Amino acid sequence: MAYFAPLLSTFLFFSIYYSQSNALSSNYYAKTCPQAEDIVMKVVKEEAQKDRRVPATLLRMHFHDCFLRGCDASILLSSKGKNTAEKDAPPNGSLHGFYVIDGAKRAVEAICPGVVSCADILAFAARDAVVLSGGPYWNVPKGRKDGRISRASETTLLPKPTFNISQLQQSFHQRGLSLDDLVALLGQHNKCSKKINELIS
Ligand code: HEM
Repeated sequence: MAYFAPLLSTFLFFSIYYSQSNALSSNYYAKTCPQAEDIVMKVVKEEAQKDRRVPATLLRMHFHDCFLRGCDASILLSSKGKNTAEKDAPPNGSLHGFYVIDGAKRAVEAICPGVVSCADILAFAARDAVVLSGGPYWNVPKGRKDGRISRASETTLLPKPTFNISQLQQSFHQRGLSLDDLVALLGQHNKCSKKINELIS
């Protein structure tokens, strides 16, 4: 899983860029919940030990969350009434680590109730997934707000595995991401290696 590592500098930018315009800060929970990141890491680590697929799905979950409506945890919201949520749309059908984020949220709430957003917990968990897979550690800026809107229909905006380079570039461009960002993010995506080779050739 060391393939995660080269994604990170761009992914960090991506995560910050697509968080709400409210300023994020590294010490956002310094007074209100300084243990938050340690608690999330502990939960992610325990779950990754039980199921080796957990880190990959958490990283992908964060990417799919950030790509639509910013990093606002809208991917965690459930379908309600006539609204089908992002998580129930086909592109997210193979995401399977929602219980890990629920567990981390419960653990954080037990120590600091009502303080830490789910969006930040997901951002911590994605970072922890990378670290536990042998990738680099980075400081996650904090203070994301949780979104309340989650629409399955918007998942058509996620890049598709069938996209050619122009379509990928356009998809990323619409999110303010450059070709360099695309290459950095996708370049080590081993499940897309066939696609990458096709694109390069
Ligand atoms: C940009 C275009 C991208 C496309 C078209 C794409 C497509 C896909 C597809 C089709 C899968 C297989 C899903 C499945 O098993 O059902 C996958 C898996 C995965 N993707 Fe992407 N992806 C893209 C970008 C990214 C980015 C930017 C990241 C992370 C920053 C990422 C992280 C992952 C991870 C970690 C998995 C493995 C998930 C698992 O095994 O549970 N992908 N991707």
